[in-house]
Amino acid sequence: MDSILVTGNGPLSGQIPIAGAKNACLTLMPATLLSEDPLTLTNAPRLSDIKTMTQLLQSLGAEVSSLQDGQVLAMSSHDLTSHTADYDIVRKMRASNLVLGPMLARLGQAVVSLPGGCAIGARPMDLHVEGLEALGAEIELKDGYLHAKALGGLKGAVHEMRFASVGATENIVMAATLAKGTTVLKNAAREPEIVDLVNCLRKMGAQIAGEGTSTIEIQGVDRLHGATHQVVSDRIELGTYMLVPAICGGEVELLGGRKSLVESFASKLEEAGVSITETAKGLKVSRKNGPVTSVDVITEPFPGFPTDLQAQMMALMCTAQGVSVLEERIFENRFMHAPELVRMGAQIEVHGGTAKVTGVDQLKGAPVMATDLRASVSLILAGLAAEGETTVSRVYHLDRGYEHVVGKLEGVGAKIERIKSQ
Ligand code: EPZ
Repeated sequence: MDSILVTGNGPLSGQIPIAGAKNACLTLMPATLLSEDPLTLTNAPRLSDIKTMTQLLQSLGAEVSSLQDGQVLAMSSHDLTSHTADYDIVRKMRASNLVLGPMLARLGQAVVSLPGGCAIGARPMDLHVEGLEALGAEIELKDGYLHAKALGGLKGAVHEMRFASVGATENIVMAATLAKGTTVLKNAAREPEIVDLVNCLRKMGAQIAGEGTSTIEIQGVDRLHGATHQVVSDRIELGTYMLVPAICGGEVELLGGRKSLVESFASKLEEAGVSITETAKGLKVSRKNGPVTSVDVITEPFPGFPTDLQAQMMALMCTAQGVSVLEERIFENRFMHAPELVRMGAQIEVHGGTAKVTGVDQLKGAPVMATDLRASVSLILAGLAAEGETTVSRVYHLDRGYEHVVGKLEGVGAKIERIKSQ
């Protein structure tokens, strides 16, 4: 397994291009199952999760061609040959469950493995099941697989979710586009990736209103046609790289970044003493003078502070002046980066879903281990600011969500290299 060697190298400055959003692309790709016509995505990120979703769609009989070095995905699911999403793919990537709603709507049946737990939590699918059953699907759990049927087609309904689940919102909205009648989804998730999905579905002929709010209304149609859609910028990659000048000093311009994608995160950074200005090309970020000051963070569904930026923010708070309390309210086990940061000299006390971080003057480089996607990049951020060398192992986690991370950071002056495993 490869590792990444980072050596603290003082303030970093330059430009970092922001890629298309992983979590938008992973729901846009299954949307191809809703139509017999081709769906083409541009500005797609080059990530291992996208390759996994490609394999899954191809296992169902869809054609997926990766063009222009992976930035264009030309897809067609004219002839589907299977309606089963196998455990060996779903266990690698939970987002595989996003084929459930589209397959049910298009084929009237779907067999999708339960994803099983992952590092950050149990990650059940009860909210997906409840929503699809409200649309008339019959779903039973058998030998670890959800067996879903709607042979007479899905029917629109009014359904309120118990929690604003991102994936459940995406599955239900996609299924409802081809249901008979109107669906009103209440307590829907409001993430920008859902807005991007709806923009794409609308180009395919779907009739949807309310995306980005807690109530989404979908008027079912008989069929959807093809489209070409540009994937929205990745707000989590954007937020991650905004932390580079915040933790190291210097000034970085994030190309393609927009403050509207990271409002709650950006206001927390500004509270901590980071300056963020919109430019013609994106966002320019620098810290005013010296280390940032500690701020408290609570993760919430959008538009609250994103759980996917909690680990990265913790790395910054390790070097801040003062004490910061971070509360993780979305996932039950998302502090695995904490003990690794402690190995670098951080002062962190974890009690259940709350972590208390007392800033230190200087982190020290050390060998550390990535445990999940966002934890891995928080260790890279800490290594950029630490004195000496940090080796982050198991960086396959990183490859899931960050394209060309070494190249992008070298571009702002970081001393960083990938060590190929023997
Ligand atoms: C999406 O996961 C993202 N993944 C996650 O990003 C992100 O952390 C999460 O939303 C929250 O913003 C993709 O979009 C591919 P949820 P998802 O359903 O849809 C519980 C990353 O790092 N829940 O909103 O799985 C669940 O256990 C990844 O890029 C149920 O209880 O998130 C969790 O505690 C990590 N029952 C909470 O809700 C359900 O049926 C949020 O889950 C579904 C979810």
